[in-house]
Amino acid sequence: MASSRIMALAMLVISSFFFLSAHASSDSFLRCLSGSIPSQLLFTQTSPSFGSILASSVRNPRFLTPATVRPLCIVTVTNASHVQAAVVCGRTHGVRLRVRSGGHDYEGLSYRSARADAPPFAVVDLARLRSVRVTRGSPATAWVDSGAQLGELYYAIGKVSDRLAFPGGLCPTVGVGGHFSGGGFGMLLRRHGLAADQVVDALLVDAEGRLLDRNTMGQDIFWAMRGGGGGSFGIVLSWRVNLVAVPPKVTAFNVKKTVQEGAVDIVAKWQEVAPALPDDLLVRVIAQGQDANFQALYLGSCDALLPVMRSRLPELGVDRTHCKEMTWLQSVPFIYLGSGATVEDILKRNLSGDARFSKATSDYVRQAISRNVWADIFRNWLAKPNAGLMILEPYGGRIAGVSDSATPFPHRSGVLYNIQYMNFWGSAGEEAGRTGWVRDVLAFMAPHVSKNPRAAYVNYRDLDLGQNVVVSGGAGGNVTSFEAGRVWGEKYYKGNFRRLAMAKAQIDPSDYFRSEQSIPPIGNQLISTNVERVDHAE
Ligand SMILES: Cc1cc2nc3c(=O)[nH]c(=O)nc-3n(C[C@H](O)[C@H](O)[C@H](O)COP(=O)(O)OP(=O)(O)OC[C@H]3O[C@@H](n4cnc5c(N)ncnc54)[C@H](O)[C@@H]3O)c2cc1C
Ligand SMILES: *[C@@H]1O[C@H](CO)[C@@H](O)[C@H](O)[C@H]1NC(C)=O
Ligand SMILES: *[C@@H]1O[C@H](CO)[C@@H](O)[C@H](O)[C@H]1NC(C)=O
Ligand SMILES: *[C@@H]1O[C@H](CO)[C@@H](O)[C@H](O)[C@H]1NC(C)=O
Repeated sequence: MASSRIMALAMLVISSFFFLSAHASSDSFLRCLSGSIPSQLLFTQTSPSFGSILASSVRNPRFLTPATVRPLCIVTVTNASHVQAAVVCGRTHGVRLRVRSGGHDYEGLSYRSARADAPPFAVVDLARLRSVRVTRGSPATAWVDSGAQLGELYYAIGKVSDRLAFPGGLCPTVGVGGHFSGGGFGMLLRRHGLAADQVVDALLVDAEGRLLDRNTMGQDIFWAMRGGGGGSFGIVLSWRVNLVAVPPKVTAFNVKKTVQEGAVDIVAKWQEVAPALPDDLLVRVIAQGQDANFQALYLGSCDALLPVMRSRLPELGVDRTHCKEMTWLQSVPFIYLGSGATVEDILKRNLSGDARFSKATSDYVRQAISRNVWADIFRNWLAKPNAGLMILEPYGGRIAGVSDSATPFPHRSGVLYNIQYMNFWGSAGEEAGRTGWVRDVLAFMAPHVSKNPRAAYVNYRDLDLGQNVVVSGGAGGNVTSFEAGRVWGEKYYKGNFRRLAMAKAQIDPSDYFRSEQSIPPIGNQLISTNVERVDHAE
């Protein structure tokens, strides 16, 4: 059955990735934009500041080389009308849009095309839409614009009250827009789940240029946009989130163990201990070289933390000298930037030295990996000269207390931890060896991680997991193939991929918002091809 589906699909695949309307015209698109958007917000390739605007939030210099396929123009929108105008002009003149909030996409999909033959596209850059408005109450809430970075959100919350927090990622320069779209998790995930789990309303500009909120977009779209990944359902301008309660003092620690000091045994034991700790405690591991660095955040005092560590993971030897008590806001720079950093540092948009070339990918672990395999990982993978690092993020607690289908993010109950494999380098010449390490360690890990599907986290986007292909279908148009999308889509979303594709068909049936890993609209293909009928006959 599967092979007949692939045959049917192969006959439908067309060589060109993007549907390029016969009427596509860059010039008329740009004229249309100038009619509705002030010229100082429009940057074409010939504008003197095009290069610096493009680079302004590019986190990975791999996608800033001369070979990178760049946008025809960048629109640095400052209000909703500009976004609506960009969509209407794009639709009218056959130019697609990519949307960028914080520019941290691991594959650069918010500002570049991975296809050399891509027709011209424009970038809607939301970096100037960045306000955060916190409202006290029960629960306290905030409206946060997509172009705010996580550090700006955390700072605004922490300044209102040292008893309020938000459960998002660790890196303060990550953009809210992409992060919330894909789920978003960090040091509070065991107590409070994902960033997307706290979203209670949003403003979205759809492919018709309409400005929608939670009620007007409907529940299928509101479900899809909270974890179904960025760049598929429209352009999210702003999010309303519930804030969470934290004690005024939290405790952080960092304890490093080398392989000589027993890192292999401790990591092996950590796998089952960490996901079962009290929800107020998260202990993650960064494995690099011959070290395992255990980083923890506890929502309570050192006095309360020490007995827990002594009884659950005595091998780590955590004592009073390791404890650092501080506010939750202070813990953000402490954990991500180091003990010398201040809370104001998380407002910086350009953290010097951060923009290194990188490649990353991810796995989920549901059954503890044997001690021998961990010994092998330290001996044969982390010790290589071109090795990167592995970050182990424990799940359990609140993240597992939500059902797999409540949001598009399906990695909930039964997951012990997420692994992120990362590698960094400083110049283009090192790329092959460094990315090779990531691909090779991923291949090595196959027998030891989740299967059927081998799951991955969409916010750690990896185009090696699969890319869209376009098939003819729909009402006279060409759309992204659902069947081909399953290859990567079921890794990120498991059983939720089909429901995401149905939501996509509802909000964007012509598949205007399209990228190498956007959600395909399934409705069109049900009507116009027999691919799905084969599926139903099974
Ligand atoms: C250094 C670093 C640290 C990270 N740490 C964490 C972490 O601790 N936890 C975690 O969960 N993740 C983490 N991530 C991953 C991060 O969550 C994702 O890369 C996220 O998608 C980035 O969002 P962005 O707005 O910065 O990216 P962008 O590159 O702007 O966008 C990412 C994707 O979302 C789309 N998109 C962006 N804005 C919108 C919008 N407003 N509406 C619709 N679609 C949109 C883009 O088109 C693109 O497809 C980290 C990434 C980096 C580079
Ligand atoms: C958006 O900004 C433009 C100026 O560029 C202004 O004319 C318009 O009224 C603004 N729209 C909204 C909704 O604020
Ligand atoms: C970012 O900071 C670094 C170091 O401070 C500097 O060299 C670089 O020019 C800055 N980049 C931008 C885009 O401001
Ligand atoms: C769909 O793709 C085919 C093959 O590239 C092309 O001939 C056709 O014109 C496209 N359809 C539309 C509506 O653009």
